[in-house]
Amino acid sequence: MAMQGRTGIALIAALCAVCLLPGLATAQLRVGFYQKSCPNAEALVRQAVAAAFTKDAGIAAGLIRLHFHDCFVRGCDASVLLATNPGGGRTERVAPPNNPSLRGFEVIDAAKAALERSCPRTVSCADILAFAARDSITLTGNVVYSVPAGRRDGSISREEDANNNLPPPTFTAQQLIDRFKNKTLTAEEMVLLSGAHTVGRSFCSSFVDRIWNGNTPIVDAGLSPSYAAQLRVLCPSNTSQATAPIDPGSPNVLDNNYYKLLPRGMGLFFSDNQLRVDGNLNVLVNRFAGNETLWKERFATAMVNMGRIQVQTGNCGQVRLNCNVVNPMSSSVSLAGSVEDDGLAATS
Ligand code: HEM
Ligand SMILES: *[C@@H]1O[C@H](CO)[C@@H](O)[C@H](O)[C@H]1NC(C)=O
Ligand SMILES: *[C@@H]1O[C@H](CO)[C@@H](O)[C@H](O)[C@H]1NC(C)=O
Ligand SMILES: *[C@@H]1O[C@H](CO)[C@@H](O)[C@H](O)[C@H]1NC(C)=O
Repeated sequence: MAMQGRTGIALIAALCAVCLLPGLATAQLRVGFYQKSCPNAEALVRQAVAAAFTKDAGIAAGLIRLHFHDCFVRGCDASVLLATNPGGGRTERVAPPNNPSLRGFEVIDAAKAALERSCPRTVSCADILAFAARDSITLTGNVVYSVPAGRRDGSISREEDANNNLPPPTFTAQQLIDRFKNKTLTAEEMVLLSGAHTVGRSFCSSFVDRIWNGNTPIVDAGLSPSYAAQLRVLCPSNTSQATAPIDPGSPNVLDNNYYKLLPRGMGLFFSDNQLRVDGNLNVLVNRFAGNETLWKERFATAMVNMGRIQVQTGNCGQVRLNCNVVNPMSSSVSLAGSVEDDGLAATS
């Protein structure tokens, strides 16, 4: 039965208004969300991550960062995965903080393909990102935790949102604290989550101005001269497309070594070193350096909290069929069932 256009527009407006209210939806994430609708959901994601990890252990770091970069831009809604925008314009994916450094997209695509075969139109890309980050943490750090799920996927991805919301490696302690606070995360959670820099690598461009001034070697404040010299070998010029491990000792092991490197002048980014410069944050750095169990417990909790940022749940958003593109308007999963059957999507 067709619904009148005006009613449809009003309904969509109401749905959108509710969906955009901050906080309302956050309580609705739930551990075991797919237990009935797709019992193998988490196992299928785990298998895709494990297969990729066997070929390239570095992919785990990529997947952890992918979830972070998703959640900080328009909330954890898989907007980071969109390769095109329905409205046109450049996407988050091509923004300098994401391109070319972000990696792991193909792992998410593989997991999504397996999920669509097993339980079509059920598991959101945003939840896949959260599961894949957790599985990467388990593989590299032997940390096991439950991920509350039920996120829905967004339909907007804009380059400037990535540029304006992702913290750059040039941020001061206060700027880092403020940015995380804006995402509902505390200063302690900022320090906890920064420990993810115990895995993975960085392109030289993110720290080159700490070791080179043009062709002249320099040593930025807080950087050890011998470490700077090692980095100059890896990054011989300020245009090098090379990469360096963020934790040179064990780039594929999630341990608390990040916090031990900072006092030795081996925090790779200016922002990493800021955690030492700020006295209050430094207390936390020393605490996590001194107790790995403590850090891992709290890190897992902080990851769960990061995964709640501005999520859409219930009938908000959609379950994307392909993580790289918004569903076509006619797709029956873009809005809740009966609403969609009335052809409302065409009016929006
Ligand atoms: C506190 C503010 C943060 C800043 C300024 C920052 C900055 C950066 C930068 C510049 C890179 C290297 C990018 C490149 O290759 O050029 C990087 C890599 C990475 N970041 Fe962060 N980050 C922050 C917080 C986080 C958080 C909260 C997480 C996850 C919980 C995270 C996880 C990672 C990982 C795992 C990598 C390595 C990625 C890979 O190997 O592919 N970072 N970060
Ligand atoms: C974060 O900053 C944006 C833009 O300034 C603002 O609209 C939003 O309310 C802030 N959110 C929180 C939780 O502080
Ligand atoms: C990098 O090199 C370019 C071109 O030589 C120069 O303009 C720029 O100032 C250099 N950047 C740094 C951080 O040294
Ligand atoms: C380290 O933290 C764990 C977990 O919170 C705690 O049980 C343990 O007592 C701490 N160890 C030390 C030496 O403080």
